[in-house]
Amino acid sequence: DWTPGHFIQSTVTAIRKKVGSGHAICALSGGVDSSVAAVLVNQAIGGQLTCVFVNNGVLRRDEFQKVQRNMRDNLGLNLVAVDASERFLAKLAGVTDPETKRKIIGNEFIAVFDDEAHRIAKQTGGVDWLVQGTLYPDVIESSSVKGPSQTIKSHHNVGGLPETMKLKLIEPLRDLFKDEVRRIGRDLHMPDDILQRQPFPGPGLAVRILGEVTPERVALLQEADDIVVAEIKAAGLYQQIWQSFAVLLPVKSVGVMGDQRTYAYTCAIRAVHSEDGMTADWVPLPYEVLKTISSRIVNEVRGINRVVYDITSKPPGTIEWE
Ligand code: XMP
Repeated sequence: DWTPGHFIQSTVTAIRKKVGSGHAICALSGGVDSSVAAVLVNQAIGGQLTCVFVNNGVLRRDEFQKVQRNMRDNLGLNLVAVDASERFLAKLAGVTDPETKRKIIGNEFIAVFDDEAHRIAKQTGGVDWLVQGTLYPDVIESSSVKGPSQTIKSHHNVGGLPETMKLKLIEPLRDLFKDEVRRIGRDLHMPDDILQRQPFPGPGLAVRILGEVTPERVALLQEADDIVVAEIKAAGLYQQIWQSFAVLLPVKSVGVMGDQRTYAYTCAIRAVHSEDGMTADWVPLPYEVLKTISSRIVNEVRGINRVVYDITSKPPGTIEWE
């Protein structure tokens, strides 16, 4: 009979045997899969696992601190947190093409992770294993015909890690579906914060800032996004929705505040239902929720004076705007 408890027990034993006295590294994204994989492997080999979490400058507000608090302070992982935001944002300056933005972030991530891996290898006398949170649907997807979103956009989280060190893979979730992964996470006492999190793309807010990504725009979107997530959660809708987020448009329009004329950015709200991200339906959020989100954003985020609602399904729209 499959239970999370049995799965954890047998997986932990198997990983321990496989790794022996070797050392493993893991790239944490803050998402469900890599987090559960890391906690599971940590259970097996503890200090022989080093996790690396990179701030790419386009994370959500407070995400860099939150992940450290959760993974290091609460769950006891051996975690290296690298704040590389300046390096990423410098590379993104002046770039407007969506695919180029993705490639820059993907390549920069690999470069940062590779540096860390070599540094860890020096400290530990060598790294032999790479832990990845690959799930069964990922295995299927990459071995069969690529889905529409994969051929249209390059998803850098699939198979994009450095090969220079010739690391052997540990993929403890390879036979599992998402709901099973969540059950395992719960059994491992991981917080709902991590387990119930909506998917967040590897290139982060960069694919939700149309046109050039600047520090100013990132800060604006972080604030708007934080309001969207908070209000969706307050309305009790967060877990029923595949993704709900804000998009920053590089379009300025005229507004009025007090007796002042404003000229500021537009923010789009997007909320979709989906099974697997391949197709999606826009969610008719209650007007009351939209109203609160809109008035909070225009009142609290200096730099955004207009909020619009995206009512496009996929296809023909994609979930992310870039
Ligand atoms: P689209 O925008 O293609 O997105 O309809 C489908 C799903 O994939 C996520 N997504 C990404 N995830 N790296 C990721 O890790 C990416 O580059 C990327 N692009 C899109 C998106 O959030 C949605 O869930």
